[in-house]
Amino acid sequence: MLTKEALIIKLKESKDVAVLTGAGISAESGVPTFRGKDGLWRQYRAEELATPQAFAANPKLVWEWYDWRRSIIHPLSPNAAHLTIAKLEKYYDKFTVITQNVDGLHAKAGSKNIIELHGNIWKVQCIVEGNVMENYEVPLKEIPPKCKCNALLRPYIVWFGEPLHPYTFENAVAAVESAQILLVIGTSAIVQPAASLPIIAKEYNKIVVEINIDDTPLTPIVDLSIKGKAAEVIPSLFFWLPT
Ligand code: OAD
Repeated sequence: MLTKEALIIKLKESKDVAVLTGAGISAESGVPTFRGKDGLWRQYRAEELATPQAFAANPKLVWEWYDWRRSIIHPLSPNAAHLTIAKLEKYYDKFTVITQNVDGLHAKAGSKNIIELHGNIWKVQCIVEGNVMENYEVPLKEIPPKCKCNALLRPYIVWFGEPLHPYTFENAVAAVESAQILLVIGTSAIVQPAASLPIIAKEYNKIVVEINIDDTPLTPIVDLSIKGKAAEVIPSLFFWLPT
């Protein structure tokens, strides 16, 4: 079993590191997680709203949920975990942020090499033309919002039952295969295919470390599980970074 002290030595010596992040990394910035006690919106669970079927049946309801999430996220700042991770790009020869989050906080913290597995809440896509646009309007003036061509816009987010955007998973697998260490931060590790990335890393004999306030299905298979808040644990692993 790896100790935290041994992990820190390995983190210092490595050249290629990847992180897989989930909603828990943004919790201390104020973004609600999906499956925690604050995960509900009205009476709905994310799985009931984040689907193509829900959007087809009631685009206004789905957009009201996203408008609510956007209004929460808009004023928020990255926390110490996002900021520490952003510094790692300069330290390592290769460093990849693979995130399930759509909140854009890794980019706001300064990370550049980001694979957004589930899209981005600040992007919209025309359901007819397929073009993707940035949209930071909070609150949205029109719900559901429309494209110039008058078709509906949808959030540029991967919903349950949809494949990931082209190449994102392939790029994430390549990052995990090349990395010496994978840090899995603040994810319940149950949504596929993201949850398979730590398993793939283990199959390649990589060091896999989980940082979470709770146990997850990954806990028994990782090399080290650090219980704690991401915004405290991540800076404590990298206290030695040059400033
Ligand atoms: P979840 O809400 O399922 O899980 C959040 C995880 O973060 C849980 O395991 C918590 O224990 C942990 N956690 C909470 N606060 C934390 C903190 N301060 N520090 C560390 N860990 C903390 O979120 P995800 O795993 O990201 O998909 O969910 C995966 C996907 O399901 C999301 O990307 C989203 C959702 O439906 C889409 O939007 C398509």
